[in-house]
Amino acid sequence: MAEVEVFWHEHAVSREEKERLNGNKGCVLWFTGLSGSGKSTIANVVDHKLHELGKRSFVLDGDNVRHNLNASPKILAEKHSEEFAKRFGLGFSAQDREENIRRIGAVARLFAESGAIAITAFISPYRADRDSVRAMNPGDFYEIYVSTPIEVCEKRDPKGLYKKARAGEIKGFTGVDDPYEPPISPELTLDSSTLTADELGDEVVFFLKQKGII
Ligand code: ADX
Repeated sequence: MAEVEVFWHEHAVSREEKERLNGNKGCVLWFTGLSGSGKSTIANVVDHKLHELGKRSFVLDGDNVRHNLNASPKILAEKHSEEFAKRFGLGFSAQDREENIRRIGAVARLFAESGAIAITAFISPYRADRDSVRAMNPGDFYEIYVSTPIEVCEKRDPKGLYKKARAGEIKGFTGVDDPYEPPISPELTLDSSTLTADELGDEVVFFLKQKGII
């Protein structure tokens, strides 16, 4: 009898199949704005609202991601060595911020491909870096500019960092002695000095419905 060859088909589950299971399309909601503008707060409100609607979402947040995937040189020096920290740690120079955003853009893409709504909250001060992430996520990228004025952010100063930056204790702080380039044509602009995080979260959910994502 002739030998029968049996092949195992490595058939990946398609993005469409994943989206159907999730009940939403995958996409990247990219929040950008100054420190203290409300990015993380609104991002988490949106995450909760989507969860309540039975949709799949995940928040990637600057302060958290900079503790692990994009750990600072200080954290890596404690865990590994000075040399390791120098090579792989990310601080706040223009080049380090670029690499921070590039990596997050790539991670957000993986989430979108899994059919999830990736919600990112990073200052991402450089237009070119945000545009690169947009190019990496064709058709899936929605830039949300949290336009809260610096006076308001500075007055809130939840981490006391503006105070330190004004005192010269932190160098290269965004909005103080480092640039922030606002988006030219964001898909959404939200100002957390005029509306509550809950109201702004509703705006985002409405936007996602309009776009047919949920
Ligand atoms: S980004 O510029 O690379 O996008 P990211 O969003 O990851 O920044 O991190 C910003 C957070 O790091 C701020 O909310 C603040 O808590 C902290 N931080 C520490 N140093 C700086 C700095 N020099 N400029 C801005 N934020 C800083």
